[in-house]
Amino acid sequence: MSRVLEMFAACAPGLEGMLRAELVQLGVAHPVPTAGGIAFAGGLRDLYRTNLESGLATHVLLRVARFPSRHVAHLRKRAAAVPWGEVLAVGQPFVVRATSRQSKLYHTGAVAERVALAIAETSGAVPAPAADDTAVEVVVRVLADMVTISVDTSGAPLHRRGYRLATGKAPLREDLARALLLTAPWDPATPLVDPMAGAGTIPIEAALLARRLAPGRLRGFAFQRLSLHDPALLAEVIAAAEARALPRAPAPIFGSDRDAGAVAAAVANAARAGVRADVELTCAPLRGAPVLCGTPPAAARGAVVTNPPFGRRVGDAQRLRNLYQALGHAVRRLPPEWRIALCAADRRLALRTGLPLRSAFLTTHGGIRVRALCAAAGDASAVPPLESVAERDA
Ligand SMILES: C[S@@+](CC[C@H](N)C(=O)[O-])C[C@H]1O[C@@H](n2cnc3c(N)ncnc32)[C@H](O)[C@@H]1O
Repeated sequence: MSRVLEMFAACAPGLEGMLRAELVQLGVAHPVPTAGGIAFAGGLRDLYRTNLESGLATHVLLRVARFPSRHVAHLRKRAAAVPWGEVLAVGQPFVVRATSRQSKLYHTGAVAERVALAIAETSGAVPAPAADDTAVEVVVRVLADMVTISVDTSGAPLHRRGYRLATGKAPLREDLARALLLTAPWDPATPLVDPMAGAGTIPIEAALLARRLAPGRLRGFAFQRLSLHDPALLAEVIAAAEARALPRAPAPIFGSDRDAGAVAAAVANAARAGVRADVELTCAPLRGAPVLCGTPPAAARGAVVTNPPFGRRVGDAQRLRNLYQALGHAVRRLPPEWRIALCAADRRLALRTGLPLRSAFLTTHGGIRVRALCAAAGDASAVPPLESVAERDA
């Protein structure tokens, strides 16, 4: 395999533009957005940095072959020509996952089997059951008779940072929490408030961003099991990332929730993430949330970034309308330069805030289509105040 590696950083739909900007910051040259992620070329250092330091990518794939094919015998021959020994060591367990669209090679089981045979006979790596978590995943994608073979260098999805072992109700995925903070946009030099913080994902991601801590620093990666892995280079990349980190978040980060169990989970998660001292976590209803209730007083600038309940349960409707109205009411009392970003599955419910929310991105979360919506507190003056704001449930 050549020294220039062809890679693909996959992300949740709708986050491609933000991921591209993040990769540019990580020093990736010429990242190319495509559906579902970013294609880029680079060295092993780029592969390590993207896995370790991206907060938005879900997997980093290493592309090992791309060729047209319409027959399984031809597929097996071409797959066997890949220098697998440069990627997979003798005895390394691997699994092959195949997808196919608009192609003669439509039988994904046969495609996976032929590629697995080619890998096993040329590298000495060993086919493993799908449940083997020491296995490296080989991804075969057949689209319009073009075969792309990649190796997943991440392993568990990158949003599994390793800190969120305790969860509350409906936790937000870590990559979406980060995307919400970036899209708000929240300036880490200013305060951050999440009044419905649940298990603390948004405040914790905010603290990681503010302190420039590598999102992947608590976990391992599949590339550590590949034969191309260079432990000394990884140690260098980790040391450089640690040297860029700040000892403390520059501005306060507040998370609160009315559920004491969720707050306890948030405290444990923040401690595991190494940011306990950077986040103030309290048990309070929305009307008693720090800053929003007037204490401490709001700085001139800051952001409210939150993920209110989506309301999938019967009987939730009126309570949630009241909650969203109360949230809008609280935000309108903030200084005009404050920003708000929220994640909502029901746009009409979000508009109950009375804020002139604009849609920033549309993505999926646990099989549900969710939207990030943003506004500035000052923009809200353009909207007539609601006649009555029900704070009973807030
Ligand atoms: C969708 S969950 C937030 C999940 C969170 N982002 C996480 O990753 O764990 C919504 C949260 O809002 C909280 N909540 C609902 N009504 C509230 C209210 N009136 N005041 C404060 N918190 C409330 C719930 O307890 C729940 O933890």
